[in-house]
Amino acid sequence: MADNRKRRTLFDFFLLSTTLVSFCLVPASAQHRRKLKFGVNGEFKILQVADMHFGNGATTRCLDVLPSQKAHCSDLNTTAFMSRVIAAEKPDLIVFTGDNIFGFDVKDAVKSMNAAFAPAIASRIPWVAVLGNHDQESTLTRQELMNHIVKLPNTLSQVNPPEAAHYIDGFGNYNLQIHGASESILQNKSVLNLYFLDSGDYSSVPYMEGYDWVKTSQQFWFDRTSKRLQREYNAKPNPQQGIAPGLAYFHIPLPEFSSFNSKNATKGVRQEGTSSASTNSGFFTTLVNRGDVKSVFVGHDHVNDFCGKLKGLNLCYGGGFGYHAYGKAGWARRARVVVADLNKKRKGNWGDVKSIRTWKRLDDQYLSVIDAQVLWTNSVNGSVVRRL
Ligand SMILES: *[C@@H]1O[C@H](CO)[C@@H](O)[C@H](O)[C@H]1NC(C)=O
Ligand SMILES: *[C@@H]1O[C@H](CO)[C@@H](O)[C@H](O)[C@H]1NC(C)=O
Ligand SMILES: *[C@@H]1O[C@H](CO)[C@@H](O)[C@H](O)[C@H]1NC(C)=O
Ligand SMILES: *[C@@H]1O[C@H](CO)[C@@H](O)[C@H](O)[C@H]1NC(C)=O
Repeated sequence: MADNRKRRTLFDFFLLSTTLVSFCLVPASAQHRRKLKFGVNGEFKILQVADMHFGNGATTRCLDVLPSQKAHCSDLNTTAFMSRVIAAEKPDLIVFTGDNIFGFDVKDAVKSMNAAFAPAIASRIPWVAVLGNHDQESTLTRQELMNHIVKLPNTLSQVNPPEAAHYIDGFGNYNLQIHGASESILQNKSVLNLYFLDSGDYSSVPYMEGYDWVKTSQQFWFDRTSKRLQREYNAKPNPQQGIAPGLAYFHIPLPEFSSFNSKNATKGVRQEGTSSASTNSGFFTTLVNRGDVKSVFVGHDHVNDFCGKLKGLNLCYGGGFGYHAYGKAGWARRARVVVADLNKKRKGNWGDVKSIRTWKRLDDQYLSVIDAQVLWTNSVNGSVVRRL
């Protein structure tokens, strides 16, 4: 008990100080001007954190840990895991794919959100978040949550894209463009496009009960955005051929995730069903039809952590990260890392994206790396290679 209280005080102090320091150092107006680009090593690395289910901090207990782990386990273990994995991977971007807080158990959504994101904020690494189906079960609506998130330090999250705000469904749909390496011919072009979508919470449509889905309005925005990005990629100066690869992040899996079991997934396991919407809204078809997105990353089903490839599109689960989320005792909490690598051109300059790789980090003593795999490679002549 005494131990817990001490930890809590230290934790509160840590939160307060990081929040204050960051607010002072990074004026809100500067955040959105921050351009994301590939590093001098020709890499861009993304850390996905799925389903933190953060509660109230030290007083919120862990679910599904071994009996021996029960006594000393709380939300602070989720915080500690995040600090460790950020330090180990040093990502260029951190992506929270929803159920960041478990609203049902949360007393104050603002405090809980701030605490959940605190290690990302303290790292000064740019980060973004979308919402899951549990974030809004506390004191704030989905709109209020996104309005709060976009004001936090170092985030590149957006409530919705200005050009689509009048028609798009949900809160937390936006695109981020990752530019080529500094001093390279592609330094002013987006060579990797990230799409973040609000997959909603629960259906409000009669006769279609269950989880929500990516709506037609969101698919329309995705399609328009992808086409605009291709036009910019193909435009002068330095016009490029084809289309730059993309990645999509949201919370609730597409129904197509149910096409895989542990045997025919490329890597990782299925240990529970796919809890997608009861209807198929066609986003998978929209993505395959457009062709730029090479992989979709979701959360929601905590003990599934596989990637499977269907019609050239990778469907990947992040695997549950948080300790107040259901899980499987003895099966470590985990995070997914994605790295895009650039082609090395003659004269040593960096070019367009050559490949996209992924692996997972486990919250064990060694932060073990597992299930490394290549999700996509670009052929030497630039045409897209699709392996079914
Ligand atoms: C949670 O954190 C405590 C304190 O650092 C540690 O003793 C415990 O082993 C952690 N539990 C798990 C399940 O990682
Ligand atoms: C990129 O834009 C900057 C600023 O407008 C310009 O100075 C530079 O020459 C451009 N580089 C390339 C490769 O287009
Ligand atoms: C994986 O195997 C299951 C069970 O045999 C099958 O229903 C499913 O279609 C397979 N998926 C793929 C992508 O081959
Ligand atoms: C590019 O490579 C692909 C796959 O190896 C091949 O099918 C295609 O013919 C090549 N295209 C050109 C223009 O060389």
